[in-house]
Amino acid sequence: MDAGTDSSIQARKREAFWQERFVTCEGTKRVCNYPNADEFGVLEVNEFIGALPPFEGKVVCDLAAGIGRFTVDLAKKAKHVTAAELIEGFTQANEEANGAMGNITFITADVTKITFQPNQFDLIFSNCLLQYMDDTELPRVVENILRWVTVDGHFFFREVSHLTPGLHDTFKNEEPCICRSTDTYNGLFNNVSVPVDGAEDEVYKFSPVAMNQVQCVKEAFSVEKDFYWIYKKIRCQRSDMSG
Ligand SMILES: C[S@@+](CC[C@H](N)C(=O)[O-])C[C@H]1O[C@@H](n2cnc3c(N)ncnc32)[C@H](O)[C@@H]1O
Repeated sequence: MDAGTDSSIQARKREAFWQERFVTCEGTKRVCNYPNADEFGVLEVNEFIGALPPFEGKVVCDLAAGIGRFTVDLAKKAKHVTAAELIEGFTQANEEANGAMGNITFITADVTKITFQPNQFDLIFSNCLLQYMDDTELPRVVENILRWVTVDGHFFFREVSHLTPGLHDTFKNEEPCICRSTDTYNGLFNNVSVPVDGAEDEVYKFSPVAMNQVQCVKEAFSVEKDFYWIYKKIRCQRSDMSG
């Protein structure tokens, strides 16, 4: 039994926080803690979906899918979407809204415990997930994401690198968000690798495609510390790893 490692404490905090959000909020506010969440949320969806590499006919994962506000647009073009989410109530809301599309599998699970297949997805999308991982969990989750993406497939993620005082509503359970600098994410993603089976001299790694400030947040709230990244999985010589 896990009595209280740092990671199990973080796991309990994020579950309590998101469960409270599920119970106390409605609509987009459940997953997007900005003023006018329903209207503002549309801008976020349009910006990120528009930034993605082409995913028509692809196999996609929406990691930490929440109530599915990205799942729906991913499923309109993808061959199949797996929507994985920590909170059962969010998964149910996503399934109620989007299950009829017929090409979505809904999973309730903690991403730190999920075991997808290697090379299962052409595109993994996550909006605000890694910031809820502690420093022990984060590198393991990133390594797993590298395994789960196909070679030449992509990982999109968006994280906030600081919480702006006065901008967000407060909740009984303090948000267990670990704000990290862009340098921290860049360092992690540029140095992570996983072995290539049967080729000792080679590894899979992430190659950077894009790192951009989130424009809708900047324009609406003058917040400049909100970024998204796109990485591509490539195969390379072990000796090509930088750092
Ligand atoms: C800010 S919300 C974003 C939800 C969705 N991506 C969106 O943009 O609408 C963060 C989501 O991450 C989920 N989450 C947090 N930690 C998680 C974990 N360890 N495994 C799976 N989902 C997690 C929360 O339950 C919540 O739905």
